[in-house]
Amino acid sequence: MSTQTSGLAIETAGLVKTFGETRAVDGVDLAVPAGTVYGVLGPNGAGKTTTVKMLATLLRPDGGEAHVFGHDIVREADEVRGRVSLTGQYASVDEDLTGTENLVLLGRLLGHRKPAARTRAAQLLEAFGLTEAAGKQVKHYSGGMRRRIDIAASILSTPDLLFLDEPTTGLDPRSRNQVWDIVRAVVAQGTTVLLTTQYLDEADQLASRIAVIDRGKVIAEGTKGELKASVGAGSVHLRLRDPERREEAVRILRDLLTAEVQLEPDPVALTARLGVAASDTAADQAARALGELARAGITVDNFSLGQPSLDEVFLALTGHDTGQGTGPETKDEVAA
Ligand SMILES: Nc1ncnc2c1ncn2[C@@H]1O[C@H](COP(=O)(O)OP(=O)(O)OP(=O)(O)O)[C@@H](O)[C@H]1O
Ligand SMILES: [Mg+2]
Repeated sequence: MSTQTSGLAIETAGLVKTFGETRAVDGVDLAVPAGTVYGVLGPNGAGKTTTVKMLATLLRPDGGEAHVFGHDIVREADEVRGRVSLTGQYASVDEDLTGTENLVLLGRLLGHRKPAARTRAAQLLEAFGLTEAAGKQVKHYSGGMRRRIDIAASILSTPDLLFLDEPTTGLDPRSRNQVWDIVRAVVAQGTTVLLTTQYLDEADQLASRIAVIDRGKVIAEGTKGELKASVGAGSVHLRLRDPERREEAVRILRDLLTAEVQLEPDPVALTARLGVAASDTAADQAARALGELARAGITVDNFSLGQPSLDEVFLALTGHDTGQGTGPETKDEVAA
């Protein structure tokens, strides 16, 4: 169905949304290939929900443009609406109805006849591990069950593009894994998924490409590998037996590796941030480094190799971590 010549499910150019003085989305360019999971990663208030709402035609942009499967989100909003579905930080199901009642009702609203709606509801409840809870009112569901029924509701008719806005925020690890499996299954059916998340491991697990957004702007975009490469191949942490030999060890490492070597506060410790060498893995580089230190008679007591996490990527790109409270406070800027 999604046979756009460009192969893009979403294409935006300079997308802007302002709320009073706040530029919630500040010139966002995205190109989301059809048939993949695309991750939009950013901390609280980065502009993720605002971006999704514009793309789902729930909010009108103040600037720039966006196309969903080639349709302009403003001028051709109806066509866009016909191809997308969303779930996440909004309620989509009725709390007072049971799981079955919700899905049957939504199926009927989509134009399915009652038996077909019932069959589809039962299939989805089963697939999402909700068969036992099918007859319970949704208000009695746990957070994980609630998230799963939300997603089930949004894929009643298989959408070409599914927006999942922080689908696992607040879920326990087991429920997160269940939601991840569902996302993988949805994509396997040909649906494109735009997933927003504050969790680096979630983007890492699910997405083929990731846009990192901070304060309304895309600050990095690429495959997971490309993003990781932008902060290097990882780091080697060493503890030497003899603090007197540390300067010499630093020289050796600097000469041998394309590494930035840092002295740690502990007088025997140092960290080498490995550069990206095409033919050389981080482990190879580390092994060579250890060999060279041994030849120089420098004893290494402790050694560890750290792979860069997406967390480190974020830190390297923004200068602050993904949590709340460390960066400059921007929350009070919201105009009435
Ligand atoms: N309706 C609104 N009125 C005023 N300001 C808003 C409105 N919606 C969002 N904002 C502001 O726009 C900015 C981006 O908000 P948005 O909800 O898009 O962020 P987010 O990335 O989804 O964050 P979170 O991870 O907390 O859901 C924030 O500063 C927020 O306070
Ligand atoms: Mg949000």
